[in-house]
Amino acid sequence: MSKAIDDTLQQEVEKRRTFAIISHPDAGKTTLTEKLLLFGGAIRLAGTVKARKASKHATSDWMEIEKQRGISVTSSVMQFDYNGHRVNILDTPGHQDFSEDTYRTLTAADSAVMLIDVAKGVEAQTIKLFQVCAKRGIPIFTFINKLDREGRSPFDLMEELEQVLGIRSVPMNWPIGTGRELCGVYDRMKNQVELFQGNDHSTIQVQKVEDYNDPVIREMAGDYLHDQLCQDLELLDVAGDQFDLEKVQKGELTPLFFGSAINNFGVQTFLENFLQLAPPPEPRRSTAGLIEPTNEKFSGYIFKIQANMNPAHRDRIAFMRIVSGKFQRGMTVKHVRVGKDIKLSQPQQFLAQDRDIVDEAYPGDIVGLFDPGIFRIGDSLSQGSEIVFDELPTFSPEIFSKVTVKNALKHKQYQKGIDQLTEEGTIQVFHTVSFDDTILGVVGQLQFEVFEYRMKGEYGVDVQLQRMPYQFARWIVDDQIDPSKFRINSTLVKDKKGNYVVLFENEYAMRTAMEKNPTAKFLETAP
Ligand code: G4P
Repeated sequence: MSKAIDDTLQQEVEKRRTFAIISHPDAGKTTLTEKLLLFGGAIRLAGTVKARKASKHATSDWMEIEKQRGISVTSSVMQFDYNGHRVNILDTPGHQDFSEDTYRTLTAADSAVMLIDVAKGVEAQTIKLFQVCAKRGIPIFTFINKLDREGRSPFDLMEELEQVLGIRSVPMNWPIGTGRELCGVYDRMKNQVELFQGNDHSTIQVQKVEDYNDPVIREMAGDYLHDQLCQDLELLDVAGDQFDLEKVQKGELTPLFFGSAINNFGVQTFLENFLQLAPPPEPRRSTAGLIEPTNEKFSGYIFKIQANMNPAHRDRIAFMRIVSGKFQRGMTVKHVRVGKDIKLSQPQQFLAQDRDIVDEAYPGDIVGLFDPGIFRIGDSLSQGSEIVFDELPTFSPEIFSKVTVKNALKHKQYQKGIDQLTEEGTIQVFHTVSFDDTILGVVGQLQFEVFEYRMKGEYGVDVQLQRMPYQFARWIVDDQIDPSKFRINSTLVKDKKGNYVVLFENEYAMRTAMEKNPTAKFLETAP
């Protein structure tokens, strides 16, 4: 490859930032996403993303369930340019009904933005998503939102981040007053104050100062708020963590920002700092070692498959994260698992809400590939070589249902559907050791609905799902497995590869079983 193309690749990689926003529903993810897109000029009117969330799809190319429920079942990606950066926001469903797709999408991100409601603090869904990111050790940036409302004290929230999530934080800015008294924030990195103006807190005045003791702040904010600010920041200077880029990059320290997405307050500062500190596309592990994004040979992997975007054609979109090299429309690549060359002819990219055909893309970008049924989650695609990327992680199911087919004559199609949908990663399937019942495991209720819908739509089978009382699955590794030991508030099942798994109704039952079986290992996911 020529030097010029090499340089272009390098530049394209360096300017990219691919991240996901993780939050609990209602923290303001839609609002923040929209503001970020507005900065990038990717959408012209506020409310566009909101409208999508509120199920205003006029077109027929979203899943029926999505339309009925007014939620984004499957996550997609939004791209915009800002200050010389190309930003890819991976959208994870904000609804409580998230699924394994949500988790897998996080594997395609190089960093995460954790959005927290100032009044509610760290909430359940945030914890789960945080843990997936933390396992990968990706940098996590925290935005405390809704600062215009009464909320918890910043110190209290920092304490909670450490206690609940086990991550220390370093405030990049600090609120001057809170709730109704909030008049702005002090930027600790740039030594400047950003002030709200007007009742709607919308206009922002930015003023450079010497430091937080500067009398200019006292003039702007009054004695009381300035005294409070000085006290807080002195404490932070003495007792707080210093900003440490290396720790941030390893995900050991989270830069903390305060703001209000709806008022557009603190959002731009956040975006600018984030783009500067967040990593460009990272290399990925494979059978051929680490694949650097600047490797001139194209490679990528599939992290999500969205079925039935157009029910009339039953087409599917496979979402590919580009790992290395340059992607070009129509290029021929090796589909490593099936050992065949394929032509990537109808690639799509997702800009705000429209889908566009993409001609070229670079590492960090997500491309939607038309999938006539040839892709599986985790598939590797590469140019020239046979590299296989590390398997995507699986996640421990938490909700279980026994599944039966309503019409016994349809058993064959039923079996085929279960096999294919498990392969695809839509659900996890288990069989009880005692009665050979089929039990499905998922991380979000929505997965059951998608399963039921697709069994009917694609395989013509009506299924019946009966909710089981289990909450935890643990894969057991032991020389001798005695099924009689797993009867109280638990049941022994096998996964599709024949591994033994115990399903537990509660934590107490799980702990008891672990104590009674000291030689066994209990794993959260398949060994
Ligand atoms: P989500 O995607 O995380 O679920 O949250 P979303 O952006 O939809 O925001 C949830 C609610 O919080 C919305 O109000 C939104 O307007 C509000 N919100 C977002 N950012 C801020 C903020 O900085 N300050 C305040 N006070 N509110 C904020 P809603 O009443 O549910 O919807 P809507 O009627 O405003 O559309």
